[in-house]
Amino acid sequence: MSFSHDFSFPIALPTETVYGLAVDGTCDAAVARVYALKARPLFNPLILHVPDLASAQQHGIFDENALCLARQFWPGPLSLVVPLKSGSHVCDLARAGLPTLALRVPDHPVAQEVLRQCAIPLAAPSANRSGRISPTCTAHVRAEFGDTIPILEGGPCRIGLESTIIACVDGTVHLLRPGGITREVIETALGRALETHSKAVIAPGMLLSHYAPDSPLRLDATQVKPDEALLLFGTKRPSGWEQVRIIRNLSETEDLMEAATNLFSFLRQLDATKPKAIAVSPIPSYGLGEAIQDRLKRAAVSYKAQA
Ligand code: TXA
Ligand code: MG
Repeated sequence: MSFSHDFSFPIALPTETVYGLAVDGTCDAAVARVYALKARPLFNPLILHVPDLASAQQHGIFDENALCLARQFWPGPLSLVVPLKSGSHVCDLARAGLPTLALRVPDHPVAQEVLRQCAIPLAAPSANRSGRISPTCTAHVRAEFGDTIPILEGGPCRIGLESTIIACVDGTVHLLRPGGITREVIETALGRALETHSKAVIAPGMLLSHYAPDSPLRLDATQVKPDEALLLFGTKRPSGWEQVRIIRNLSETEDLMEAATNLFSFLRQLDATKPKAIAVSPIPSYGLGEAIQDRLKRAAVSYKAQA
């Protein structure tokens, strides 16, 4: 693939997790354009995408834990928050002025190719308007932004959930956002438990309301009304389900990987039918279920806040 784009302006980039809106992470003006396009609060920093660990180490300080995780899981759906290295030219706005930065090495072949060719860290938030559902295919990106930005085709995203974010700062290891790699797998790799509630690490992006469809979401539904849409998991059915017209099943076989891949796409499909609410079956809390529950809870909170 030969590729030319001026990264002062956003372009939609496929990754294995979700599509991102990529811009030059060393240029405040470029990063400002992406915040504006998404209507994203300026205190919510971006993830810097690089092709490999060596490039990441030009921008961040990797302690033993960060190195262990990077070696094991990069390229892949893991973002590491580490202290900023002096001499890094990642701009202030991309980091929202923090003394740390989030780095990620995606393993999608198109993302890899683009990162190798452009040779600058690309700041790439998910390609959705702030607070909305992340896009897992180019049609979703178009639904968010129309034809206002160029879009690189990379097929449907393999993982379908954003990266897991881990902060390795001051010798601690915190899970800031559950995502495409499970807590269990990371804890096994590290040989220690992840801390979850962080006072030491600021995570300004962990806004409670996020990933929201227009329709209200009702979690752990054991009964459902005819004017609601239904998002199932597995073979259990809530009472009243026979009357419901619009139903999707995240995974008939209770496969959490399949459920993660389908989550955002099915939420969009159900939302597009403008139901009174979207009733969601209970989802397990282990493995990728932790990240799926996290996204669903945020979407539900946003409804409660508006109601
Ligand atoms: O899978 C992904 O991570 C996707 C793809 C495109 O790579 N990107 C993504 O970006 O989900 P975004 O902007 O939607 O989420 C980035 C998260 C935000 O919640 C932000 O607060 C957090 O990363 N973050 C970035 N820098 C941080 C820092 N220095 N400290 C703590 N959190 C940080
Ligand atoms: Mg996002």
